[in-house]
Amino acid sequence: MLQSPRLTVYIETYGCQMNVSDTELMLGKLAEAGYESVEQPDGADVILINTCAIRDHAEQRVIGRLGEMKSRMKRDAVLGVTGCMAQRLGSQLLDRARHVSLVIGPDSYRDLPSLIDSARGGVRTTATEFDLEEHYEDFRPRRFEGVKAWIPVQRGCDYKCTYCIVPTTRGPERSRQLSDVLRETEAVVASGISEIVLLGQTVNSYFDGQHDFADLLRAVGEVDGVRRLRFTSPHPNDFSQRVIRAIAETGACCEHVHLPMQSGSTRTLKRMLRRYTRERYLECVAELRSAIPDLALTTDIIVGFPGETEVDFEETLTAVQQVGFDDAYTFKFSLRDGTAATRFPAADTVPDEVASDRLARLIATVRAGTREQNLRLLGERREVLVEKAARRGGLLQSRTRDFKTVMIPGNVSLIGRYLTVELTGTTGSTFIGKVAAHRTELPLAV
Ligand code: SAH
Ligand code: SF4
Ligand code: F3S
Repeated sequence: MLQSPRLTVYIETYGCQMNVSDTELMLGKLAEAGYESVEQPDGADVILINTCAIRDHAEQRVIGRLGEMKSRMKRDAVLGVTGCMAQRLGSQLLDRARHVSLVIGPDSYRDLPSLIDSARGGVRTTATEFDLEEHYEDFRPRRFEGVKAWIPVQRGCDYKCTYCIVPTTRGPERSRQLSDVLRETEAVVASGISEIVLLGQTVNSYFDGQHDFADLLRAVGEVDGVRRLRFTSPHPNDFSQRVIRAIAETGACCEHVHLPMQSGSTRTLKRMLRRYTRERYLECVAELRSAIPDLALTTDIIVGFPGETEVDFEETLTAVQQVGFDDAYTFKFSLRDGTAATRFPAADTVPDEVASDRLARLIATVRAGTREQNLRLLGERREVLVEKAARRGGLLQSRTRDFKTVMIPGNVSLIGRYLTVELTGTTGSTFIGKVAAHRTELPLAV
């Protein structure tokens, strides 16, 4: 008898690492159900678009992509929308796009195989219930990022920043049990991966009922074979002395913290409901720096938040200069339906030209700072982990513990290896390096 060929699935991922990690979980679940994953939507039996809702622009890209799928998908293919936009828009997506048959929010991936089966039978479904117990503990993620592993330790968010849609799309905060995180870490290490990135929206507020984030860092850092440990994104308010000490005392913890600032103006921070002032943020930076020598700091900043004046914006610029960030992700404020920011009076809206101008000035200030930081490092030696082949120039892309990208010459066989490189040049943002020594064995750089 002829065996029927395996069904194929294509998943396209937008948004943050949490979504990337969810895609890995979905692919794992579908592989277990017999699906083969493919790299192109054309010809796939199932196409899932794992979406982000953080800014309008992110959603517009997805809408465009869904339109494109109409002509690219084969006639009997199932097209599904998953992730944050699915959660936010729910069945509206089914009404708006007749060729979409599944809308599945972040807590409903357990039902993927059965929902796909029904969709193949012509049933269109929306699944957007939150499930506060759901951590997909029995899923075996299919990891694609060869040299590092994302490990979600918390889902959802309990903060209510007035600009942010995430609490709506991801639901309330909940943490995994420390023992489950350790089990996953051990499995990852056994598969040959030595860099771990712990994920959560406010990852340092982790609490499993018994253990806090400090306990988690120390425990994961102690797993044999974990050579680099990172986490993203922490909230400034959740950096207790215990957590800072745990970072400083855990050898595997890298000397880099991504610390979202959002604004350097206390007045704006208050309206954003970030729950810290400019001074408290700067104090947090100082505490981290005094505990962790040579710490690199990166951040997220929003410009054009409702009511942001020129004076407020200039406070953001001076805060950027004062901290001396190694890099920053910069965003123009995007008004999201359902967030508290929609309740500010219309007169508070910052005109788009003003916001664009501020964004350009902020980017120039950030770039100048990055350049200054990076020029200072020229001539130094650093341990790098080789991540992948660079897009251009036949080079390899590698990364230091403090999160600098270093392009080095070499063969793809070096991917996954630790090397010592000398930083010989910089474009301002990334480095060119010369391999000084091949170091493949431990010890940890403590
Ligand atoms: N949980 C993380 C942030 C996740 S969203 C944290 O609290 O730091 C990633 C970044 O997107 C945010 O840090 C913020 O800078 C930006 N962002 C979120 N909502 C936005 C909006 N409505 N408009 C513009 N940028 C936004
Ligand atoms: Fe959004 Fe604020 Fe939660 Fe981050 S902490 S996900 S910015 S609500
Ligand atoms: Fe986007 Fe959802 Fe992440 S809105 S940034 S994919 S949590």
